[in-house]
Amino acid sequence: MQHRTLRPFPPSFLWGASTSAYQVEGAAAEDGKGPSIMDARTDRPAGVADYTVASDHYHRMEEDVALMAELGLRAYRFSVSWSRVIPDGDGEVNPAGLAFYGRLVDALLAHGIEPVLTMYHFDLPQALQAKGGWSSRSTVDAFERYARVLTAALGDRVRYWLTINEQNIMILFGGALGIPAPGGDDPQREIYQQNHHMLVAQARAMRAVHEVPGALVGPAPNIACVYPASSDPLDVVAAEDFAAIRNWLYLDAAVHGVYNPTAWAYLGERGWRPAIEPGDLADLAAGRPDFVAFNYYTSHTVGAPTPDGPEKGGSQDQHLLIGEAGVYRGVSNPHLTTSEFGWEMDPVGFRTTFRQLYDRYRLPLLVTENGLGAPDVLEADGSVHDPYRIAYLRDHVDQIQQAVTDGVDVLGYCPWAAIDLVSTHQGMRKRYGFVYVDRDEGDLRTLDRYRKDSFHWYRELIATHGQRR
Ligand code: BG6
Repeated sequence: MQHRTLRPFPPSFLWGASTSAYQVEGAAAEDGKGPSIMDARTDRPAGVADYTVASDHYHRMEEDVALMAELGLRAYRFSVSWSRVIPDGDGEVNPAGLAFYGRLVDALLAHGIEPVLTMYHFDLPQALQAKGGWSSRSTVDAFERYARVLTAALGDRVRYWLTINEQNIMILFGGALGIPAPGGDDPQREIYQQNHHMLVAQARAMRAVHEVPGALVGPAPNIACVYPASSDPLDVVAAEDFAAIRNWLYLDAAVHGVYNPTAWAYLGERGWRPAIEPGDLADLAAGRPDFVAFNYYTSHTVGAPTPDGPEKGGSQDQHLLIGEAGVYRGVSNPHLTTSEFGWEMDPVGFRTTFRQLYDRYRLPLLVTENGLGAPDVLEADGSVHDPYRIAYLRDHVDQIQQAVTDGVDVLGYCPWAAIDLVSTHQGMRKRYGFVYVDRDEGDLRTLDRYRKDSFHWYRELIATHGQRR
């Protein structure tokens, strides 16, 4: 039902915004930073921006935090570049790299902005990748150690910790993100071995965070409700199967420390179950989150698979579903419109996703990404008119309040992105920020910052605690 009397946003609600290290920082080889797999990417089409300079946030951090303060942010969700802090992933700590994040956290706190720190957002150190990446058990140990380096250095100032950003998208649609494909005789089996290693690494990192008094930790997958294409019971089963494979596999393991049974059966039938070593299940069981963070851009709609396909697909774009033979077939939802980049926009699905998450896990929920990618235009007078983004965000904030009124415990909302940054595979053509960064794919221009119309809109919304929108 649509509530007519809405509950206000909780007083402690964290109005925030997000970025990730490799997409915003630049300075890819400065001050001792080692290369990450994102620096080593060779799959971008010619002319699409790389991450060498990105939005030059590394050099303009104080200016960017001042803009966040002007926006009125109560939280800023960013990620730490693992290879900036530990250049080869498991060796010496780079004090200059760690110091950057110390300065960032101090700048945020000085403006009353709560830091929300993601440990790992797609950018595995290249040196670890060269040693097998997530296929190797030693990466689990390296991640736990890295987590402990971060908590030791920043645990006195950072309260909200996120482990791994969108593990599910890395596993299911890694090609779209530029994650190197696994080798081996059966790459799909290998990918679920990598997934298992990440789950164990995450559980150990959660335990490490809990050794810091007062620190809170959560996983940060991308969660989308999955609709059946029709009321045909076979479509309903396909939707449930895809939801298990896409969503619940990751969160059942993170929250309850167990594999989701539907997903486990799917893996078993295909011979893709991971090898589980002694101690892994105990590690999974011991790593308990305090909240669930999630990214939401769109819902998905699926039907029962047709007899001869489609083959597993989707590597070109993480949210344009093709399907998987014998499991599901992605279909477009006739009730939804799409963004310029083809992603369906579904604010009501956002509310449904909140409800499903809260029903399943009964943990506070923190939105760590949501937003609209579009090719914004900088006008001659320095303005940027992005009414499409305001409409998207407004519709989604409306649905958060519906979810709050439903009784869902919502900690906060951190849309993507605080400022423009380089998209995962569409460069600077696809912008998300409240702040425009003056560069394009190849031409770095001035890299100056300009407030978009959505900046002024979001500032007003935050100032009125979500009332004026
Ligand atoms: C999420 C990622 O998948 O979506 C971000 O966590 C990403 O890193 C965002 O940028 C939007 O995706 P894209 O492909 O439009 O950049």
